[in-house]
Amino acid sequence: MKISIIGAGNVGSLAAMRIAQDRLGQVVLVDIVKGLAQGKSLDMDDARLFFSADYSIEGTDDIAKIKDSDIVVMTAGLARKPGMTREDLLAKNAQIVKDTCLKIKELAPEAILIIVTNPLDIMAYLAFKITGFKRNKVVGMGLSLDAARFANLIAKDLSVSLSEIEPLVIGSHGEGMLPLPRLTTVKGKSLLSVVGKEKADEFVKRTIGRGAEIVSHLGNGSAYFAPSAAIADLVKAIVSKDNQLRCACVYLEGEYGLKDIFLGVPCRLGKNGIEEIIQLELSDSEKQLFSIAANSLKAQYKYVQI
Ligand code: LAC
Repeated sequence: MKISIIGAGNVGSLAAMRIAQDRLGQVVLVDIVKGLAQGKSLDMDDARLFFSADYSIEGTDDIAKIKDSDIVVMTAGLARKPGMTREDLLAKNAQIVKDTCLKIKELAPEAILIIVTNPLDIMAYLAFKITGFKRNKVVGMGLSLDAARFANLIAKDLSVSLSEIEPLVIGSHGEGMLPLPRLTTVKGKSLLSVVGKEKADEFVKRTIGRGAEIVSHLGNGSAYFAPSAAIADLVKAIVSKDNQLRCACVYLEGEYGLKDIFLGVPCRLGKNGIEEIIQLELSDSEKQLFSIAANSLKAQYKYVQI
């Protein structure tokens, strides 16, 4: 399995390390900045003894090295700065994603593409349109990270084990994120029934704001430990071929009554990328919020020229 990661910033390089350590495949780390991916990959190579793992990470500034990759993870782009929404990044990162996707289409036409560059719901749409890849082969990472954050906040607050929480988050990886307290379970019971509406709303709010909370502490740059773990988890789900359930951003073709849009929903991931999209029974108010998230995303498509 050849797994290429584009962008050797914090998210990309740490994802490379996790994927290599988990022995998911042979990793190629690419960055346009000369020496960056090469230097980081040598450093990661030197850690092999400590992990007793003979993994392979090749660092390069030559995108041609992604040739015939099975999976390509796109992380390149500018990160959020304090006070900047993910949407502010739109125009700048759209150009980077466009240029890179044209190369991916040419060099790795069979690859499964995982989009991480923000605003990722829109970048995934752009990547899908530019590569012309089938819809099962383009996945946006983001919602599994949000679900992990939701679960983490609940687990800590209620002092329960993470293994007893099944989080569900749909919508966009941004302001239109919809953590679902009614369908999220704690020890098999609905979070909403366990903690009540007020407390559940607090978890929802904290989850939506978690990325920005981290950005505001860091002052420069955004989260990367959990995002890189979420990337490695998606890659693992694809490589393990057993159709595991994850929340991810996918192209909808009528599911949830929506068409021609990338939005986060639960799905099964396997060797073909997205193997199945799960249709949840949403309540009227959840449907309404989901449709607001969809409309707000669609309104932004006009800012990216395809
Ligand atoms: C976050 C950025 C990576 O949610 O989107 O932290």
